[in-house]
Amino acid sequence: MSEQAIREELAMLARSLFDRGYSVGTAGNISVRLPDGYLMTPTNSCLGRLDPARISKLGPDWAHLSGDKPSKEVFLHRAVLTARPEAGAVVHLHSTYATAISCIAPTGASGDGSPEAGDAEIPPLTPYFVMRIGRRLPCVPYYRPGDAAMEPAVFAAAKVAKALLLANHGPVVSGASLAEAVHASEELEEAARLALLLRDVPGVRRLTPAQVDDLLRTFG
Ligand code: 13P
Repeated sequence: MSEQAIREELAMLARSLFDRGYSVGTAGNISVRLPDGYLMTPTNSCLGRLDPARISKLGPDWAHLSGDKPSKEVFLHRAVLTARPEAGAVVHLHSTYATAISCIAPTGASGDGSPEAGDAEIPPLTPYFVMRIGRRLPCVPYYRPGDAAMEPAVFAAAKVAKALLLANHGPVVSGASLAEAVHASEELEEAARLALLLRDVPGVRRLTPAQVDDLLRTFG
């Protein structure tokens, strides 16, 4: 795919996320790995109104080469794309339900399909959450948006999981391609919504560890 086609796809998918309420105002940022560097949404840009020609281009060393000034979250994207060489794109949103979950202190694992200690409070309720996000969803402690100090913690989380939550801030999801990262972000938001809807409901059935293993073996 040419860089021009990727720029257009980025603007189209970002607008789709914005139009469906996954991002409001100028929240959220997206990066895509290129053969010769990275594309990154500009800082303070609205995901609903990106101009493909003005999307920031960074070199292989993450230096700003062209386009508008890149997102202040360049450290976040660098941490994930460095930790996961197989990832081609990263989507960071402030989508409501995943962000709500990021405000709940993680507890611990009980071995019954509950999240692992330090992971966000989204249990494996449905197959597509497991298929698109995986077994782990670490929650990285709170850092001020754009704080370069978050990079080691995000890097460590991204080493063990394709998605993570930033505490009291929002989700960060990687994918092999931009489309995969967007689809997984949507799936995460739905899983977070279900988790909150069912949080205090008695008798909720979670996927068992064996069912999770089977999904990851088949689709992982
Ligand atoms: P930028 O406008 O710099 O991309 O920041 C938006 C955001 O979502 C911060 O987390």
